[in-house]
Amino acid sequence: MSTNLEGPIGELPHGRPPQTVVNDGRDYPRLGTVSFRRGTLTPRQQELWDDKWPTYGRVLDDAVIDTDSWFGRSAPTILEIGSGTGTSTVAMASREPDFNVIAVDLYKPGLAKLLGAFIREDLTNIRMIRGDGVEVLHRMIAPESLLGVRVFFPDPWPKARHHKRRIIQSGTLHLIASRLKPGGVLHVATDHADYAEWIDERVDVEPLLEYKGWPWNESPILTDRQLTTKFENRGLSMDHTIREYLWRRK
Ligand SMILES: C[S@@+](CC[C@H](N)C(=O)[O-])C[C@H]1O[C@@H](n2cnc3c(N)ncnc32)[C@H](O)[C@@H]1O
Repeated sequence: MSTNLEGPIGELPHGRPPQTVVNDGRDYPRLGTVSFRRGTLTPRQQELWDDKWPTYGRVLDDAVIDTDSWFGRSAPTILEIGSGTGTSTVAMASREPDFNVIAVDLYKPGLAKLLGAFIREDLTNIRMIRGDGVEVLHRMIAPESLLGVRVFFPDPWPKARHHKRRIIQSGTLHLIASRLKPGGVLHVATDHADYAEWIDERVDVEPLLEYKGWPWNESPILTDRQLTTKFENRGLSMDHTIREYLWRRK
């Protein structure tokens, strides 16, 4: 059954986002009562959003995406979770015109910025989903359908009591592995030392993922993020070290 939860254009339903409960003994991020930043669009962004969102965007729902019909072509697909304002999304997608790129975020002003940028640059290989990336993987992405998954500078949730909200956990790694095609790539980057340590402890927890470390020159997808994003710059100005991780779906 497919339930379309979409109300007004590109709006998430009110209230706590629904979370799929998985009892497989693995750890999945628990959002708890976390409230996501809202923020408003400028009148020009809103106009563009109303005009273009129905073509390029969708809100989390229960319909598995048919990428061939959404992109109007058959091409390998990369999913980016937490695209923020989309600066690296656009920079990378412009260098990978033969790949479909789906950017997922909850943050509407970020998606609006990304939309403005790729329309301006005439890119036709980006689509957007507004929703929790974990739910998108569960409900909208077919098993073994992606060539790549990118998670760049995920929220570090530095307090110990919030670590359970971190997106990189055994359950998410398993879910991502299940959505990647054999040979597909997971690419994660962080500038947060404690999060890096957390990821280091989990690089081998998922049997379907072969940890390749960094760099991995034979990667079938682009791994050069092309530029430093706002979050990254902030980290670099505080002398943070950027750590990158690559895995190959077995
Ligand atoms: C620290 S920012 C990094 C943004 C971007 N990747 C960059 O490097 O500039 C993290 C982003 O992830 C988004 N985010 C957090 N949790 C998410 C989730 N469960 N699903 C999708 N996006 C999420 C936030 O809204 C935010 O835009």
